[in-house]
Amino acid sequence: MADERTFIAVKPDGVQRGLIGEVIKRFEQRGFKLVGMKFLVPTEDLAKQHYGDLKDLPFFAGLCKYTASGPVAAMVWEGLNIVKMGRMMLGETNPADSKPGSIRGDFCIQVGRNIIHGSDSTDNAKKEIGLWFKPEELVSYKSCQDAWLYE
Ligand code: RTP
Ligand code: MG
Repeated sequence: MADERTFIAVKPDGVQRGLIGEVIKRFEQRGFKLVGMKFLVPTEDLAKQHYGDLKDLPFFAGLCKYTASGPVAAMVWEGLNIVKMGRMMLGETNPADSKPGSIRGDFCIQVGRNIIHGSDSTDNAKKEIGLWFKPEELVSYKSCQDAWLYE
């Protein structure tokens, strides 16, 4: 159970605003384990696949263009309940509804520039990790902190 994984991506606006380190810091300090990381400019095709569930929504084209507009820091993080806890750390989709203390609540203003993505279910996490990473790009290892994080 402590091996649940989620896909987290700092979007192009978060990268340009210098927030990759801040995002990594928050997941690290919570106790989660980094198991995969890459820095890339996604193709629009990858963005379309990633947000495929939203393809009928009016903002879909703009969303995919924004996602593919520059470098993205794509990561896989691991830990107990990480999908749910990761979403709580991100805040609400619309930064205006995100509480201070959450990533979106601390660093952004508008829904269309909300700086970070996080998987919304364990099934979607599996799909997204498979879309962005090859199996051999993920690293399984024992963290020395585990004994102090989990009873
Ligand atoms: P994400 O997938 O990026 O983590 O965001 P989310 O789950 O919180 O929200 P989702 O419904 O999956 O929407 C994906 C992204 O689409 C943009 N969006 N724009 N203009 C709008 O009303 C609107 N609604 C959503 C946001 O960038 C959102 O993160
Ligand atoms: Mg989503």
